[in-house]
Amino acid sequence: MNNGNTHHQPQILVTGGLGFIGSHTVVELQNEGYEVFIIDNLSNSNLDVLKGIYNITGIKPKFFQFDLLDKEKTHQFFNQHRINGVIHFAASKAVGESVEKPLKYYENNIGSLVNVLQGMLDNNCNHFIFSSSCTVYGQADTLPITESAPLKPAESPYGNTKKISEEILLDATRSSELKAIALRYFNPIGAHPSAEIGELPLGVPNNLIPYVTQTAAGIRTQLSVFGNDYPTPDGTAIRDYIHVVDLAKAHIAALKRLLNHENKSQLEIFNVGTGMGSSVLEVIQAFEKATHMKLNYQLVGRRAGDITAAYADTSLVHKELGWKTEKSLEDALLDAWNWQLKQK
Ligand code: UD1
Repeated sequence: MNNGNTHHQPQILVTGGLGFIGSHTVVELQNEGYEVFIIDNLSNSNLDVLKGIYNITGIKPKFFQFDLLDKEKTHQFFNQHRINGVIHFAASKAVGESVEKPLKYYENNIGSLVNVLQGMLDNNCNHFIFSSSCTVYGQADTLPITESAPLKPAESPYGNTKKISEEILLDATRSSELKAIALRYFNPIGAHPSAEIGELPLGVPNNLIPYVTQTAAGIRTQLSVFGNDYPTPDGTAIRDYIHVVDLAKAHIAALKRLLNHENKSQLEIFNVGTGMGSSVLEVIQAFEKATHMKLNYQLVGRRAGDITAAYADTSLVHKELGWKTEKSLEDALLDAWNWQLKQK
C-alpha cells in the first residue's frame, strides 16, 4: 500500500465501482497504490460498499454518484480530473430482464460506453479496460474456448450488448489513440475473504452461487438444478467458476500492460477464467465439502437459453498478462458462504 504518496500514482476511474466485480477491483487497485475514482449510479449497489472497501484497505475512494447516460456530467468529470485509465464495469446485467426490456439494455450499456469513450478521447485519456463476457461465444464448438473461437449470435439482448460493445471498441481504437483491453469473464463467484464486500443480488437470485448460499442460509427452501440431461459426465451443465478476487487481479494486470505500453494491438481480448469446468452437481458437492453442510436441491428441467458447457483456454491471458488464478472453487464457495452469513 502507498497511502502517503497517492498523488504521484496513476488516477484510475472505475465505473460501476460499487458493484460486485467493481468493488473487488477497487480494493486491488488501492492495494497496489493507485488512486481510485468511482462513478456509480447505485442502480444495483449501495453506499455500504464504500464502507466495506474502506474497512479492507483503510482508504476511501473518491466517489461520484451519477448516471453515465448523463453526457454533460460524464464530460465534466473527465474535464475536471486527470484520469490515466478507466475500468468500465457499469452496465445492466440481468439476462432475463434484458429479454423483457431490450431497449433499456441497449440504452444503458451502449449509451454509457459511448459517453465514457467520448469523455476520454476529448481529454486525452487513452487507456480503457472493458468488462466483456464469455457469453459472446455462445455454445462453442470446441472446449476449452480460445479467444479466436467464432462468436455466435447472442442468446439475449444483454449478451448482444457485450458483442456490440466489443465492436464499438474495435472501431474506436482504429480511429484514435485509444488503447483497450476487453476481458471476457467466465463465471465470477465468491466474495472478499474478509467478508466486507461480496455479491448483492436484488430479489430472487438468477445465478447459481447466490442461490446456493441463500438456500443454505434458509432464505430459499430448495435449489433447483436446471437440467440433468446435458451431454456431460453427470448430465448437469458445466461452467468455469472464477473467484472474484482472482478476476479483480486480472484487471490490474491488464491496466499495467496498457500504462506500460506493453499491449501488442490497440484492442486486445483475453479470456478470464480458471480453465477448469465444473458441473452444477460438482459445485454443490464442493459447497457441501467446504462448508460441512447439506444442501437441499432437486433436479428439474433445463433453463431456457442455457448452454451445455463453457470453460476457458487461459494460455493467452497467462502468457500475455502473466496472470493466472490462485484460488480454488472451494475457496470461492467458502468466501461466498461467509459473506452470506454476514447478510441480515
Ligand atoms: C449467466 C448468464 C450470462 C451472464 C452470467 C453472469 C444466463 C443464461 N446466462 O451465466 O449471460 O454473463 O450469468 O451474470 O442467464 N443453475 C441452476 N440453478 C439455479 C441457477 C443456475 O442449476 O438456480 C445452473 C445454470 O443452469 C447453469 C449454471 O448453474 O448451468 C450457472 O448458472 P448462472 O450462475 O446463472 O450463470 P450462467 O447461466 O452461466
